[in-house]
Amino acid sequence: MNVLGIESTAHTLGIGIVNEDEILANQKSMFEPEEGGIHPRKASEHHYQSAMEQLNNALAEASLELDDLDAVAFSQGPGIPQCLEIGAVMARSLAEKHDLKLIGVNHCLSHISIGTRTTEASDPTTLYVSGGNSQIIEFRNGRYRIIGETLDIALGNALDKFARELGYPHPGGPEIEKLAGKTDEIIEMSYPIKGMDFSFSGLTTEAERKMGEASDEVLANSFQEHAYAAVVEALERAMAQEDSDEALLTGGVAMNKRLREMVEKMCEQRGAKAYFPPTEYCMDNGAMIAHQGLIELENGRETEISESHKRPKWRPDEVEAEWK
Ligand code: ATP
Ligand code: FE2
Repeated sequence: MNVLGIESTAHTLGIGIVNEDEILANQKSMFEPEEGGIHPRKASEHHYQSAMEQLNNALAEASLELDDLDAVAFSQGPGIPQCLEIGAVMARSLAEKHDLKLIGVNHCLSHISIGTRTTEASDPTTLYVSGGNSQIIEFRNGRYRIIGETLDIALGNALDKFARELGYPHPGGPEIEKLAGKTDEIIEMSYPIKGMDFSFSGLTTEAERKMGEASDEVLANSFQEHAYAAVVEALERAMAQEDSDEALLTGGVAMNKRLREMVEKMCEQRGAKAYFPPTEYCMDNGAMIAHQGLIELENGRETEISESHKRPKWRPDEVEAEWK
């Protein structure tokens, strides 16, 4: 079954195509704000304008025509409403016009399932850290449970905000990583962990207040060390509680080398395995949506047009995952 997947929850418009054997295409175009964070209307305009081009790129990459497709999957939520709308409308139109099956999938679960497809992980405890989400997720009793999460803003969002304050462009995560790589010096900041939950709003304010007291490099390094140590400690607690011997790191922030290093080391010390999907599948992408759609269709799920509305606040633990 050839499934086309459409990702449009935030800054990325991604189109991927997968079947049971292969990931056939993964094309994307990212909205890059001239200043500030993601402006919902401008991001959705970007998605609208790049949709046809990315669709054609994906079909060309897969050497397929629209008529070779069997189904279309889309990110139904969670995400920015205006952005979700573009993906949903595009999916509905393609499904109707080309007589394709339609399936709306949860974006967070798609990050996990592409992680298990592209690594050797089978039943991991997942640390999912991106611009909009920061959660520790574990499959238990028919559902993916969120066993730890941010109490305020997402880790990627905190990195983006702090970088913007320092005067660097969006996305801020890679900018902070570059700065941090230039020093080993760390200054004391608060350590934002609460049980298996964490919070980054206070740490961001604190780092911003310290601007001028230390160099950008030292602030960036200190921010990374404190924030990443907190999520990795929470992940370790979660793995101990769940008696888990596999960790999966995913989401845009999972591309960070220092964070990968910390997860790797923690797993090594516990005798567990750490898994990192290739970076193109860590960040938002269409292939993960297509793959999640494929799994759900194989399990007899389908989304009626009348049920295909956007779900901006859809949490992964609301989904009954009978395919697992
Ligand atoms: P979601 O919809 O899942 O919340 P998203 O819209 O934030 O995802 P992603 O591509 O998953 O999109 O993640 C983008 C985030 O990843 C941004 O906050 C960006 O700063 C961060 N990021 C990207 N590269 C790095 C890096 N090397 N180090 C740290 N953070 C990074
Ligand atoms: Fe994402």
